[in-house]
Amino acid sequence: MQPNRRIIVGISGASGACYAQQLIRSLLRAKIEVHLVISPMGQRLVHDELDHDATDLSWLAGDEDPSGITLYSYQDVGAAIASGSFVTDGMVICPCSSHSLSAVAMGSSTNLLHRAAQVTLKERRRLVLVHREMPLGLIDIRNMAAVTEAGGIVCPANPGFYLGPRHLNDLVDFVVARLLDLMEVQHNLSIRWKEQPPPEGSLGPPEGSLGPPEGSLGET
Ligand SMILES: Cc1cc2nc3c(=O)[nH]c(=O)nc-3n(C[C@H](O)[C@H](O)[C@H](O)COP(=O)(O)O)c2cc1C
Repeated sequence: MQPNRRIIVGISGASGACYAQQLIRSLLRAKIEVHLVISPMGQRLVHDELDHDATDLSWLAGDEDPSGITLYSYQDVGAAIASGSFVTDGMVICPCSSHSLSAVAMGSSTNLLHRAAQVTLKERRRLVLVHREMPLGLIDIRNMAAVTEAGGIVCPANPGFYLGPRHLNDLVDFVVARLLDLMEVQHNLSIRWKEQPPPEGSLGPPEGSLGPPEGSLGET
């Protein structure tokens, strides 16, 4: 029997916990096993930005089944995902701090998040780093080049505005949909560019748009 698809998700201490939340829910919706590791600063960012404990799997899963998530200890470099023999469909670090980008670029693996990324690269599996920092320093740029040369994909958390987002969730979906595309996961987040004239009045955001919608970030 073909095993379920599995994707490792790493949450590090960059801003953008909402991307991780939506990514995990989308993977669960697609019936993909989520193997999750969170750095201490990643936990802090989830708490600060979404007002929840990142290790609360029921909250993290939202309407999906939390049993699809396996949470690992950040320090446990002997866990399953530290070994290439544990076959996965790749890994996404979302969001990815400059610190974690640097550790991946250098092949440092003193914790499970960085070890799992190193293993993903050595096994020639897909590794996507959702880096968030601005502006970029030369060290970040060089580290991005190193990761790219090693086969990884740096996918900055930069939403586009050409689809006329009205709510924060639209911007989150824009980024997460690109991640799901990169991981070859089917989804129905509507982010496809259609070659048709923009609707009347869509050239600027309507007054009052981009505010948090009902059930917005941090809500279950
Ligand atoms: C509120 C807050 C926001 C942060 N945002 C970012 C960020 O967007 N990008 C980044 O590279 N680091 C950011 N940092 C710094 C990282 O958390 C810090 O470098 C940490 O060592 C990252 O460790 P980790 O990769 O092991 O999670 C932020 C820190 C705090 C407290």
